[in-house]
Amino acid sequence: MRAAPTVFLIDDDRDLRKAMQQTLELAGFTVSPFASAAEALGELTADFAGVVISDIRMPGMDGLTLFRKVLALDPDLPMILVTGHGDIPMAVQAIQDGAYDFIAKPFAADRLVQSARRAEEKRRLVMEIRALRRTAEAASEGLPLIGQTPAMERLRQTLKHIADTDVDVLVAGETGSGKEVVATLLHHWSRRRSGNFVALNCGALPETVIESELFGHEPGAFTGAVKKRIGRIEHASGGTLFLDEIEAMPPATQVKMLRVLEAREITPLGTNLTRPVDIRVVAAAKVDLGDPAERGDFREDLFYRLNVVTLSIPPLRERRDDIPLLFSHFLARAAERFGRDVPAIPSAVRDHLAAHSWPGNVRELSHFAERVALGVEGTLGAAAAAPVSGGATLPERLERYEANILKEALTAHRGDVRETLRALGIPRKTFYDKLQRHGINRTDYVKERGPA
Ligand SMILES: Nc1ncnc2c1ncn2[C@@H]1O[C@H](COP(=O)(O)OP(=O)(O)OP(=O)(O)O)[C@@H](O)[C@H]1O
Ligand SMILES: [Mg+2]
Repeated sequence: MRAAPTVFLIDDDRDLRKAMQQTLELAGFTVSPFASAAEALGELTADFAGVVISDIRMPGMDGLTLFRKVLALDPDLPMILVTGHGDIPMAVQAIQDGAYDFIAKPFAADRLVQSARRAEEKRRLVMEIRALRRTAEAASEGLPLIGQTPAMERLRQTLKHIADTDVDVLVAGETGSGKEVVATLLHHWSRRRSGNFVALNCGALPETVIESELFGHEPGAFTGAVKKRIGRIEHASGGTLFLDEIEAMPPATQVKMLRVLEAREITPLGTNLTRPVDIRVVAAAKVDLGDPAERGDFREDLFYRLNVVTLSIPPLRERRDDIPLLFSHFLARAAERFGRDVPAIPSAVRDHLAAHSWPGNVRELSHFAERVALGVEGTLGAAAAAPVSGGATLPERLERYEANILKEALTAHRGDVRETLRALGIPRKTFYDKLQRHGINRTDYVKERGPA
C-alpha cells in the first residue's frame, strides 16, 4: 500500500502552523512542520514524493525565494503559497512562474485540503511517470530481464546474489525462455564484466572443430593448423565462458571440459603444457540433465560439476502474467525499430496473447510482437492505429504505455479486479484512478469471456 501523502509545511507563525498541520493531518496527510524556509530546504530532495506549502512573508528566507529554490531543485514539485493581504500580485506572478496554487489568508480549512489533495495527486503521477521512465530506460540499456511474476522476481534475486561470485552456473530452460539473457546478466552483474563474454554453441560446431575452438592449438598440432590459435576458453579468461546447448557437447570433449572445470587450466592441442585460466562457466541446457532419461550420453560427473547452482527459467506458459508486460515491451521496441507508431492492440491479438501456449516462449512472443507492429497480425482499424510515438512527448508516450499495460492486464485476467491488481501490484484506488484517467471501462473486458 501507498504511504500517507506528505506535506512540508512552512510558516513562522506558530499558531497558524499548528492549525494548518492539524487540518492536513485530519485529512490524512503526514505533515512535517518547519518554522523557517531554510530548515525545510535543508531536508528537501528532488525525489521528495510530496507537496510543499509555505507562507510567503517570513523572516530570513521568504516563501518566494523558497519557491524559486524548490523550482530549481525539481520543477515538478508542487508548491502552494499562503499569502497575506498585500501579496496577491506576487503570488499571481509565482503561479505564472510555475507555483501550483496560492491560498489567500484567511482561508477555510477545506480550501487548504482541496488544494493539497490535488497537488499531491499531481505529484504522485509525476513520480509514477518517473518510475516508469526509469524502468523503460533500464530496459533500453539492452540488458532487460522483464517479468514481475514471483518466479521471475525470484530468478532476478538469485541472479543478483550469485552474479558476482565465481560459482559456475547451469541455466536450464526451454527454447527461447531467456537462457542467454540470464547468462549475459551473470556476466554484466559481476566484476568480470571488464573481461570477455565468450559464447560457444556446443551443438553448432562439428566434433572435429570443437576442441581446437575450445582449447586452442599450437602450430602443426594437426593438418591445417598453420598458426597458433588461442582457444575460446583462454579468450574468456578474466571473463565468462558461456557454453550454450551443453547437452550437445561430444562425449570426448566432455571429459576434457570436466578437467578444465576442476583444474582451471587448459592444454592446447599439440602441446603437453598447461596454461591456467581464470574463467567462470555458465552453461545452458534445454533438457533436464539431472534426469537420466533426458541426459542421454551427457556425462553424469560433468552434470554434477556444473550443477553447483542451477537456474531454471520457467516456460512462458507457466508465468502468463508476464505476457502483457513482455508484449508491450517488444511491441514498443519493434515499432521504434520499424519507425512505426505503436498500435493499440486489436482484440484478435489480445485473444491470441491470452490463449496461445507459446511453445517458443519469449522469442516467439517477440516475433509475434514484431508482426503486430508491422500490422500483419490481427486487424488494425483506424482507431486501433492511434499514434503513440509519432510526435508525442515522452510523458504522452508513457501515458499510452501505461494505458496499454492496464488494458493488457485486464485482458489477461478477463477483467477480474483481484487478479488484475495482483498482476499489476498497485493499490485498488490507484487502479481505479488510472482506469478513469485513461477512460478504460473494466466491464468491457469481463464480456470478453465469450459465449458460455
Ligand atoms: N525475461 C525477458 N525479458 C526480455 N526479453 C527476453 C526475456 N527472456 C527472453 N527474452 C528475449 O527473447 C529472446 C530469446 O531469449 P534467449 O536467446 O535468451 O533464449 P534462450 O533460452 O537462449 O533460447 P534458445 O534455447 O533457443 O537458445 C531474446 O531476444 C531475448 O532478448
Ligand atoms: Mg540461447
